[in-house]
Amino acid sequence: MKFFIDTANIDEIRQAADIGVLDGVTTNPSLISKEKGKFEDIIRQICEIVDGPISAEVVATDAEGMVAEGRKLSEIHKNIVVKVPCTVDGLKATKKLSSDGIGVNMTLVFSPSQALLAAKAGAMFVSPFVGRLDDISHYGMQLVEQIVSIYNNYDYDTEVLVASVRNPLHLVDAAMMGAHVATMPFKVIEALVKHPLTDIGLKKFLEDWEKVKGR
Ligand code: E4P
Repeated sequence: MKFFIDTANIDEIRQAADIGVLDGVTTNPSLISKEKGKFEDIIRQICEIVDGPISAEVVATDAEGMVAEGRKLSEIHKNIVVKVPCTVDGLKATKKLSSDGIGVNMTLVFSPSQALLAAKAGAMFVSPFVGRLDDISHYGMQLVEQIVSIYNNYDYDTEVLVASVRNPLHLVDAAMMGAHVATMPFKVIEALVKHPLTDIGLKKFLEDWEKVKGR
């Protein structure tokens, strides 16, 4: 399973990359708006830190504009994946960009039918937003289960990228369902490693080792 970090914050990306388990990065206009500097410069910097798919999102809403923006973004670095929203124009743009060899991450996906269309249009990744579904009393992870099963039925190459992850259980459920990727905020990556019994156990081992040291 691939782990992506869901942020445009360079410090967080560096810290996550240092752990050695980071496979890629996802950004969106809201995440970019929290950081200083030009969009293209932030994306360029991210590409220098992480050698894996880096999602950068278009803001045009018409297919032609999305394709033009997507092409420009893809020129920043070979690892750029163009993030396109799941709309009719988004599907047209996905078809065009994908057939030109540019990777697309179809974003803002909230239903299995949208995910099926994303795969048919040739998206490299599909991003179901599980946290935002949970927020409105829908089971976000149920959507992931449906998408994984539909893609398996037809052997689609599109990878399921679980997005809007809010806690470690989203990640564990996604892994059990066979999702290819999960993108997580830095605080969720930190939470994955934490266990109180690990901390208690380590403290005790070190205390006991003190008794051995003087021998
Ligand atoms: C990632 O690709 C998405 O943009 C992101 O996971 C959305 O997360 P949020 O619902 O926490 O904003």
